[in-house]
Amino acid sequence: MSLNRPKPLEDEPSVKVKFILEDPHPLGQEEKEVEVKVRLGDSILGAALDAGIGIEHACGGVTACSTCHVYINKGEDCISEADDDELDRVEEAPGLQDNSRLSCQCVVEQDGDIEVQVPAWNRNAVKEHPH
Ligand code: FES
Repeated sequence: MSLNRPKPLEDEPSVKVKFILEDPHPLGQEEKEVEVKVRLGDSILGAALDAGIGIEHACGGVTACSTCHVYINKGEDCISEADDDELDRVEEAPGLQDNSRLSCQCVVEQDGDIEVQVPAWNRNAVKEHPH
């Protein structure tokens, strides 16, 4: 499923976000650390997908699943706050932590030191439970 969103423009303000990929290969990456330029106002999920980091997103980013679950290790203050819908949904995610977020709901709002960790089990959340 692809998200219908604009491509980042080179001359728009952007923020560097470091992704820590516990298991990079299933996400389409070779390295465990990937730095991505994220346009202000874009979501962590959207930016990851643009950069070829294949975070699962079964519902297409409408807070109807928890497959896009990530950990915000650093820079929480630079990202939009979770609303009630997200908080309710993220509680269903495996491996819940205090810094758990749904990446489709994390909008980058200001520059800072942002680090996002993608758990190794992220990619299999849907595929292991076929309908
Ligand atoms: S993609 Fe479904 S909640 Fe984020």
